Amino acid sequence: MESSIKKAVLPAAGLGTRFLPATKASPKEMLPIVDKPLIQYAVEEAMACGIEDFVMITGKNKRALEDHFDVAYRLEEKLRSSGKDSLLEEINKLNHLNIAFIRQKSPLGLGHAILCAKPFMGDEPFAVILSDDIIDPDYPLLKEMTSIYEKFKAPVIALEEVPQSEVDRYGIIEGKLEGGVYKISDMVEKPSPDKAPSNLAIIGRYILTPDVFEYLENQKPGAGGEIQLTDALKDLVKKRPIYGLLMNGKRYDAGDKLGYLKATVDFALKSPELAEGFKEFLFKKAKTL
Ligand code: G1P
Repeated sequence: MESSIKKAVLPAAGLGTRFLPATKASPKEMLPIVDKPLIQYAVEEAMACGIEDFVMITGKNKRALEDHFDVAYRLEEKLRSSGKDSLLEEINKLNHLNIAFIRQKSPLGLGHAILCAKPFMGDEPFAVILSDDIIDPDYPLLKEMTSIYEKFKAPVIALEEVPQSEVDRYGIIEGKLEGGVYKISDMVEKPSPDKAPSNLAIIGRYILTPDVFEYLENQKPGAGGEIQLTDALKDLVKKRPIYGLLMNGKRYDAGDKLGYLKATVDFALKSPELAEGFKEFLFKKAKTL
């Protein structure tokens, strides 16, 4: 069955303070895992679900994102004339996508960033992908979420169990497991561990319905003084069901230095070009630790 999710919003306006000084003048979304920037993993994940229309919410110092998804004529010419066909194919494979870039004029939070996409989304459901959260590309999380959407025609949020001591880094839900998915009853953004309703954390994949915009418009600043998506969904769940899918694959928090390094090591070990040499290096290195 063809999915009704045709568009994705990719918030990419964050300041990337956890990666300073690397992110002083370049977008954190352009940090590479092996040889591909974080944002491209997000785009490819959506493409695997048939999504070809994207709205990217950017801000200051983010122009490299537009260049990355633009056609690079001179580079193409050079690769063509030197017979580097596979590289040429690699840099061309995203050329057919429709990507609109919108600037979030001030850093008012994730909820506000998503609200910036409203004029372009029409009356359709859409995916939201936070590129800091890298999901193992072999695990079709977004596809599973879209089939849950098709079943219930309701918003779907990806969830992961996290240690109780880390609940204050995430949106945390309260819900009941019913037939393999959580029916969410409440949620709270970055609660302190003693106030969290569970240890089920929202991770950066959402299927949202257009009615969320009305709730985003009416949000006051929440955790961290920002307009929070979680707060809008907390209001929305009082009016309609929202489902949570506990993910069953590997996620890396690439917005965090340690998570970023873990993703780099795992992805290098999966790369046909690097795996052997890198494994050998790691074995030798581990013996010296
Ligand atoms: C955002 C959301 C939070 C979610 C997290 C997942 O927080 O606000 O609810 O748990 O992404 O990565 P951020 O990491 O942008 O502070």
